[in-house]
Amino acid sequence: MPDSPAPAGSLWVHPRHSRTGHGAALELHPGSGVTLKQEPGTLIWREQLADGTDAVLKLYRRGFLAWCRCRLSAFRTCREFRALRQLESLGERCTPPLFWGHGRFGRHRWGELLATRWLPDSHPLEDVLIADPEAGRKLDLAPLWATVRHLHDAGLHHGTLLARNILIRGEPAALEFFLLDLPRFHQFPYGIRGTRMARYDLMFLAHTLLRALPPNDLPRWLAAYGMNDDEQAEFRANLRRFRNSSRLRRAVGVEFNVRALLASARHALRPAGRDR
Ligand SMILES: Nc1ncnc2c1ncn2[C@@H]1O[C@H](COP(=O)(O)OP(=O)(O)O)[C@@H](O)[C@H]1O
Ligand SMILES: [Mg+2]
Repeated sequence: MPDSPAPAGSLWVHPRHSRTGHGAALELHPGSGVTLKQEPGTLIWREQLADGTDAVLKLYRRGFLAWCRCRLSAFRTCREFRALRQLESLGERCTPPLFWGHGRFGRHRWGELLATRWLPDSHPLEDVLIADPEAGRKLDLAPLWATVRHLHDAGLHHGTLLARNILIRGEPAALEFFLLDLPRFHQFPYGIRGTRMARYDLMFLAHTLLRALPPNDLPRWLAAYGMNDDEQAEFRANLRRFRNSSRLRRAVGVEFNVRALLASARHALRPAGRDR
């Protein structure tokens, strides 16, 4: 970090593009940026970086011990950065990742941070559905479900696929969907359609959409995902029993951590020439 003290309200970060190694320190100014979200452990703001990029910065404050634990295991922002990179390389729209970092952030103390490119004129899908349910009903969400199918075919599990973690932009006839906020992302070495990982992504998505939209939209979404009639009937039955909660998301997150670890180990140990 530079010797001179940072001006009040500013902080320094060493931008990282991988798990190890980092670039020269960069000064950020949460105090003079536009605050998007402020909670006890989280600060999200928008500011223009020194190179002119309009960025959104998400800072998660951690106690010193929690920060040490993350150093030994993994930082959520590192996981999210890698997830966004995977989405980009798959050609899917997301909040474009710029860098992540961790350390002691001035008066915010210990924490971790993720920078993405700001998406102007975008809105969380959930906000749009709540603010204007009538307009929400006119949105064609089938392409969003086709996107999720693409992710699952590529072995990618979003992990927090809720309406509030999808940004939309543009006219209803040419709507663009952007995925974001993937702290529970997993990558499997095989397509995951038909697995528990895929089912939970779809349940979370359907559950949050159906709070605002009529259930007769569901068959169209499931068809766009690629489910046949039998698969749709089974999904609807599962969805009726489904109860969304942050506790459930945490529990399946732990289960899928283990499954992803085992799947990668099996993949690494498989005999040459075999795909799964
Ligand atoms: N790159 C971005 N461009 C535009 N808005 C963004 C961007 N990143 C985050 N946001 C806004 O910040 C909100 C919170 O971001 P999110 O990644 O979901 O963080 P959290 O972990 O707090 O849920 C989003 O719903 C969105 O409104
Ligand atoms: Mg979110």
